[in-house]
Amino acid sequence: MKKILASSALALCLQGLSPMLYADQMSAAEKQGLVKDAKTQVMSLAGALTATLKQGIKTDGHAASVKLCNLQAPAITKASSIEGGATEWTVSRTSLKLRSPANVPEGWVEQVMKDFEQRKANGEPAETIAHTEVRDGKFYLVKAIPTKAGCLACHGSNVAEDVKSKLADLYPNDKATGFNVDDIRGVFVASKKL
Ligand code: HEC
Repeated sequence: MKKILASSALALCLQGLSPMLYADQMSAAEKQGLVKDAKTQVMSLAGALTATLKQGIKTDGHAASVKLCNLQAPAITKASSIEGGATEWTVSRTSLKLRSPANVPEGWVEQVMKDFEQRKANGEPAETIAHTEVRDGKFYLVKAIPTKAGCLACHGSNVAEDVKSKLADLYPNDKATGFNVDDIRGVFVASKKL
């Protein structure tokens, strides 16, 4: 949290140099509030996805849960966003190594993810890597998603044959395997109109 606030303070200073309307107008307290709200949105989506996944794996195993993710992840993501009607925030997931073509990143987010890889290579743990940005009248929090042991069954190097064949069916261009624990699997992007 400290690091995120420190990096947002830095982002605020940097944005102070540019002629961006909203960044100039935003106070440190406002920014802090936005970061806190964005993190709440991200945690809520992460919690909903994890709960569904855990239940699916427990009931039906990994291979069947690939289909569950395929059906439920986009629906849960939408429900956690402004489209779902419950919040002003939009939350999404993306990655440099994508599984779903529906999760393609915007160009600037792709660059942020490349910077994240560099920060990780410089010793920062994936858990705390995050970035804030104001662009086009929106506030953004981009937060790294660390790979956990439980992710490897579907994103690791030794994916079981039945899981592999389900993935091949549903995601013929899947790039999201070969990850190790503590790698950055992808990012959450939370945004809100200012
Ligand atoms: C049962 C298999 C399974 C497990 C376990 C699993 N995932 Fe996934 N993951 C998927 C599938 C399937 C998708 C594509 C979902 C979609 O269509 O939106 C996906 C998509 C993602 C995405 C979105 C970006 C992309 O590549 O499309 C991220 C980020 C992600 N997973 C992270 C994780 C993390 C972190 C864990 C562990 C906490 C995890 N996954 C565990 C199957 C799994």
